[in-house]
Amino acid sequence: MSWGENMKKIFLIGFMGCGKSTISAYMKEHLHLSVIDTDHYIEKKYEMEIKDIFSTYGEKTFRDYETSSIDEVNDYEVISTGGGIVEREINIKKMKNLGTIVYLHTPFTEIVNRLKNDKTRPLWNNDLIEDMEKLYQRRSKMYEAYSDVIVDTHNRNANEIVEEIIASINKA
Ligand code: S3P
Repeated sequence: MSWGENMKKIFLIGFMGCGKSTISAYMKEHLHLSVIDTDHYIEKKYEMEIKDIFSTYGEKTFRDYETSSIDEVNDYEVISTGGGIVEREINIKKMKNLGTIVYLHTPFTEIVNRLKNDKTRPLWNNDLIEDMEKLYQRRSKMYEAYSDVIVDTHNRNANEIVEEIIASINKA
């Protein structure tokens, strides 16, 4: 696996629980790339957990923080984003200007399984599973439309996924 000299930044997008943080951590450890997660960045900057930002200030404020974070983390080579980053067109424009957008696709059933004990995601914890599936369907269309590269994560380990990301980006 090699990181080309003129490699652009990588933005990892995808639904909650698709593995963006796991894959970026793997890229940091094995490819020695500088990596940041927009949610972690926001939590550190505002000294608040995401769920508390939602409950105290509401989703709009969180989305404003998220939009600003894209410019603020652009020193990094790999940027793992929150699942709702695609909700604002300006976010897509910013990411397209700065790098390559990689969508990690994971089937809904697997997401449900991975997040069954999750207590940190306000948009996952408060809704019925039918509503979550609708959100997943609506978002999936956006991830597909806005990404430069789509990588399937189903039944694959981090090494396989990262190899495919790098190979696809080198080709793109
Ligand atoms: C959100 C996804 C979360 C986090 C916030 C909102 C969403 O990030 O940004 O809870 O709208 O899908 P993950 O995708 O890392 O869970």
